[in-house]
Amino acid sequence: MKEDPRKKYIGLLPQDQLLKLYAKHVNAPKVRTFKGFGFGVMPGERSGIKFKTLAGVKSSDPPLEIYNCRSSGGVFNLGHSNPQIVQVLKDALDAGLDIGDHMLLSEWRALLGKKLADLMPPGITKTTFGVSGGEAIDTAIKFSRAYTKRKGCVSAIGGYHGHTLGALATGDSGFKESFLWDIPDFHQVPFGDIDSMRKAVTEDVACVILETIPATGGVLIAPEGYFAEVREICDDKGVMLIMDEVQAGLGRTGEFWAIYGGMYSNEKVIPDFIVCGKGMSSGIYPLSTCSYKPFIERAVFKDDAFIHISTTGGSDLGCAVANAMLDIQSDPKFLDHVKKMGALFGKGLKEIANENSELIKEVRGRGLMWGIEFRDEDDCLKSMLYCIQEGVLLNYCGNKKDTLIIMPPLIVKKNEIEEVLIRIRNGIQKLRK
Ligand SMILES: Cc1ncc(COP(=O)(O)O)c(C=O)c1O
Repeated sequence: MKEDPRKKYIGLLPQDQLLKLYAKHVNAPKVRTFKGFGFGVMPGERSGIKFKTLAGVKSSDPPLEIYNCRSSGGVFNLGHSNPQIVQVLKDALDAGLDIGDHMLLSEWRALLGKKLADLMPPGITKTTFGVSGGEAIDTAIKFSRAYTKRKGCVSAIGGYHGHTLGALATGDSGFKESFLWDIPDFHQVPFGDIDSMRKAVTEDVACVILETIPATGGVLIAPEGYFAEVREICDDKGVMLIMDEVQAGLGRTGEFWAIYGGMYSNEKVIPDFIVCGKGMSSGIYPLSTCSYKPFIERAVFKDDAFIHISTTGGSDLGCAVANAMLDIQSDPKFLDHVKKMGALFGKGLKEIANENSELIKEVRGRGLMWGIEFRDEDDCLKSMLYCIQEGVLLNYCGNKKDTLIIMPPLIVKKNEIEEVLIRIRNGIQKLRK
């Protein structure tokens, strides 16, 4: 009989020994922080919307079972270890696919590029592949500069596009200062404030980059018409509009693209670039995409077809996995499921907010992407920890620490939503004790 592979890959050492190794050889402050939260545990077995830890908070305690309502920002849109996706990867490996050679052409990049073009808002037909979201964001910024021959970039205060140097330059100072990274041509404006955007977008600006729903910034919802006006401002000034759909795209809002009907059903804005990461991998094989209009390709690659490359970006294996993910997540029935589950979840969270209105200021979101804004940062942190104790993983927003972000996998079922809501309610009620 075949040996259970979990024995070979999960729980090889006791959790406390692994924490010591992690602290010694990976990152000690991270271990200290999680222990400080009372959550010094490591994920072990995982499947569907849940994972188990290797042990409890004390190594002698039994493993915890956690509902993953973080989904790693949308990585686990299809849950952990989705059997359909795992099978695709196994089949692709059996077929002899590998990473491929980035200098050569690739059957799988061609097929995935075509599938993405079919799913994109009209006119966005080209894709350059990467490994991480930050890499794909950097690509969009680079290409905007090559096309416009300008250096400026306007982004949102509180926005987050990654930690590679280009993406980092668009973000808040908290992440940049230690690395002495302050680029004069990069400016930030308040999200949703069209007048500030109009002032900032001058003829020196190459690109405006925005998340459709800033996640790290607090699950912010722009006023209706905001993105259409940003589009007009960019058009007037010849500026590229880059939409970061790393978290809000791929069906998270119940529409395939947040910028194209997902935010407001009557608002379908067509940017020049759409960037995806996280969920492109299905949590199984890393891939990111920077998709754009063909005139941009002509400007970037006209003198040198190899001017931008990524050795492991757009691997054949990653493309095969993403191809299967796109088939699942773009199915109208799947999107309908997200809409239904999102409505149920949003209703439940708003009820919890009403019951705790002295603690909670607002609940806002779209589809299965929700934020709970507390009146007090401390209450937000405590409620995150209480929810984790109740077995629901969610987190506060890195750039708006009074807000919890909640993103269950898109495959979440009705009974699971009901269970998660009970636990979140219990967690928040602990604040009163
Ligand atoms: C909206 C958004 N864009 C880009 C990124 C960067 O992705 P990565 O961490 O894969 O570089 C993130 C990561 O959290 C993100 O949330």
